[in-house]
Amino acid sequence: MAEARIIDGKQFALGLRARVAKKVWSLKRDFGVTPGLAVVLVGEDPASQVYVRSKGKATQEAGMASFDHRLPAEATEQQLLELIERLNADPAVNGILVQLPLPKHIDTARALAAIDPAKDVDGFHVVNAGKLAAGIPGATIPCTPLGCLMLVRDVMGRNLRGRRALVIGRSNIVGKPMAQLLLQADCTVTIAHSRTVDIAEECRRADILVAAVGRPELVRGDWIKPGAVVIDVGMNRVSTAEPGKTRLVGDVAFEEAMQVASAVTPVPGGVGPMTIACLMLNTLASACRAAG
Ligand code: GUN
Repeated sequence: MAEARIIDGKQFALGLRARVAKKVWSLKRDFGVTPGLAVVLVGEDPASQVYVRSKGKATQEAGMASFDHRLPAEATEQQLLELIERLNADPAVNGILVQLPLPKHIDTARALAAIDPAKDVDGFHVVNAGKLAAGIPGATIPCTPLGCLMLVRDVMGRNLRGRRALVIGRSNIVGKPMAQLLLQADCTVTIAHSRTVDIAEECRRADILVAAVGRPELVRGDWIKPGAVVIDVGMNRVSTAEPGKTRLVGDVAFEEAMQVASAVTPVPGGVGPMTIACLMLNTLASACRAAG
């Protein structure tokens, strides 16, 4: 069988960001509105610092206003809640993103619940999660699953009816909303997780496989149904033979998957860039709603 197609998330994301930037420009010209995204980082987690920096850069490149808020690791929950309240009340801010994970002494659910659901561009607020689960229109969809669905549709077309989908991972950020989106698209959806009895066997039935567990190269080639579309959300840093040198790998053994699947996202350059592009899209949508 021929090798699978590599799904170029980087290219797709660039196109999406360019379309968002164009819309931002006309929103400014026609309504005098500049969308604004506030990103809040508590503490100095190195990976989070990298993510926050690239979100700020993408925001500026889209022509939107970027507001960067840093709190020290020892900031209290009350300080974070007060900052969120200020951002909720600020008309220049259309989107609020609190970077996760938060330090352990802060209750994540309470912090996310404090964000105005209309400004919740991550789609993590219970109102948005609940709307998605209940199929109520108008929910903000979490950025990573939204980006994954766009890539699946780019490969398989818009009609996913009756396809068997397996989502590995049940996080609120990716696994659960991903399963909801695929269900809404009329797929037959299974969620696998650490207590699933035979993940390999579940995988072998899936036409669409989304891996979001954070276990380097967990999914092997012989787990994959021939011709399946494989979306790899994993971003795992692993050490290499060279001392001190690391590399990024996904949750899927990429080279093995390429021999069996019909299309596979690479890591890096697959899902990652889509997350940021969808954040720009969600922020633009929030600004459009605010502008009426
Ligand atoms: N941490 C890892 N992924 C995400 C994300 O999509 N949004 C936020 N806020 N934090 C994260």
